[in-house]
Amino acid sequence: MKTYSRIIGTGSYLPSNTVTNYDLEKTVDTTHDWIFSRSGISERHVAADGELCSDLACQASLKAIEAAGIAADEIDLIIVATTSPDMPFPSTACILQDKLGIRNGSPAFDVQAVCGGFVYALNTADMYIRGGQAKTVLVVGAEVLSRMLDWNDRTTCVLFGDGAGAVILRASEEPGIIGAKLHADGRHREMLKADPNIAMDGQAVFKFAVKVLSDVVEELLEDKKLSGTDIDWLVPHQANIRIIEATARKLGLPMDKVVQTVALHGNTSAASIPLALDTAVRAGDIKPGQNILIEAVGGGFTWGAVLIKW
Ligand code: UT7
Repeated sequence: MKTYSRIIGTGSYLPSNTVTNYDLEKTVDTTHDWIFSRSGISERHVAADGELCSDLACQASLKAIEAAGIAADEIDLIIVATTSPDMPFPSTACILQDKLGIRNGSPAFDVQAVCGGFVYALNTADMYIRGGQAKTVLVVGAEVLSRMLDWNDRTTCVLFGDGAGAVILRASEEPGIIGAKLHADGRHREMLKADPNIAMDGQAVFKFAVKVLSDVVEELLEDKKLSGTDIDWLVPHQANIRIIEATARKLGLPMDKVVQTVALHGNTSAASIPLALDTAVRAGDIKPGQNILIEAVGGGFTWGAVLIKW
């Protein structure tokens, strides 16, 4: 009997403090119109002083655990995708395990693939489940990128936000995750990096993102003998509405089949997909039996796509 990984619960958390484009007009040389027309972003959430990546991850995880109807101790693997961990070590996953009160000694580790992190983490969790090494996995994307921004640099500070999203994956005989393709190409690492603040060649990243996202969704659908018309929902990484529109166009998907949260969340890196997923699930948009396609690209560069039968 084949084993699949099914998502049985989702959760998310956003810090209470929001920063609008109009707020940013007061601190850097920018306008709401510029930010909104170039990126589709109108506001983002920013963590409070002392609010850590693991705190955001914990809030999102508690909601996912509740939605899944499981006890935290049933979780036998924790993977946190983040590029803004509490500290270099211990991993945010280990800190999260403790904050959730999980005492069963199961493995916990972080995955670092920047905005591609959630796709990488989901694929890794799926491998553990299909390989029989885990049954109930907590996968989290959590970021406090606000700490890595130069708030005087208008080319970056207007784009990013903080937040966390989580899913519970469980081993099942029913199809769940049905395909994944991951890629990386370190030659392009200078295009987007944090050293220590985030710096980016926006136009180069934009072109690269549109190209590789189109390629990887095509590669995945071809492999599964599916086409864009088989997709019920595209849940893309939320970096820029124009990049999202380009991928939807390539798939022949109307925008009402695309989950869009970038306007209110900004780019929350590894957290953006699980945040968007949870938003759509709680709105009742994503329904059992539907085909969900997720995709992301991020610094490194890393990129990938995952196909899920909900
Ligand atoms: O998760 C992956 C991470 N990143 C991304 O996906 C981002 C990909 N790139 C983008 O989303 C877009 O390239 C941006 C939104 C970052 C920028 O949009 P753009 O249409 O590529 O603008 P641009 O960089 O070509 O800048 C156009 C002009 C420049 O002025 P000049 O040289 O034409 O005089 C910039 O200096 O806009 C200026 N500019 C701004 N103006 C007002 C740059 N940032 C701002 C700003 N407000 N915040």
